Amino acid sequence: MREDIKEILMDENKIREKIKELGHNISEEYNGKELVLIGVLKGSVMFMSDLMKEITIPCSMDFMAVSSYGSSTKSSGVVRILKDLDFEIEGKDVLIVEDIIDSGVTLKYLIEYLNGRKPNSLEIVCLLDKPERRKAHIDVKYTGFTVPDYFLVGYGLDYAEKYRNLPYIGILKEEIYK
Ligand code: IMP
Ligand code: MG
Repeated sequence: MREDIKEILMDENKIREKIKELGHNISEEYNGKELVLIGVLKGSVMFMSDLMKEITIPCSMDFMAVSSYGSSTKSSGVVRILKDLDFEIEGKDVLIVEDIIDSGVTLKYLIEYLNGRKPNSLEIVCLLDKPERRKAHIDVKYTGFTVPDYFLVGYGLDYAEKYRNLPYIGILKEEIYK
């Protein structure tokens, strides 16, 4: 798999340090609240599990699965719910855990959908932000890294369901998807 990667952008240490910092900030700012982390499957799975271990206050987890991409590298703009929440979030302090924000279309849809469930608060923590391609305005409370407009894989991020198991985040060589 390594031969398909053009460059490693964030290695394991850099990711770990950043997640420690995010977990610390979340633990301070949500102290005393009823924190629920909602992971967006499947890309956020690694980030979710590492982030949760760095959160030192009580919190629960839930997952949603939505589809917006298929196996291409451009968003279709159409969002479909494949798996809904297991638990009610009314009155809870909810943090959506995302791997990467690209056009913002997925999150825009999710925010409207989850706000309809009447949480006490609803915010976003994303590991990666690719602001160059934003189409929908999104307020992100916690961002790990701002990244340039390359197609990235690893640490949960896939191309056609591959590369999620890479422990680092890298730029996929163009010839793999062109
Ligand atoms: P958006 O709706 O365009 O913001 O797309 C968000 C979703 O697309 C992310 O949660 C990822 O699952 C996927 N995505 C966006 N950019 C990349 C990338 O560079 N590599 C892998 N997946 C990506
Ligand atoms: Mg995702």
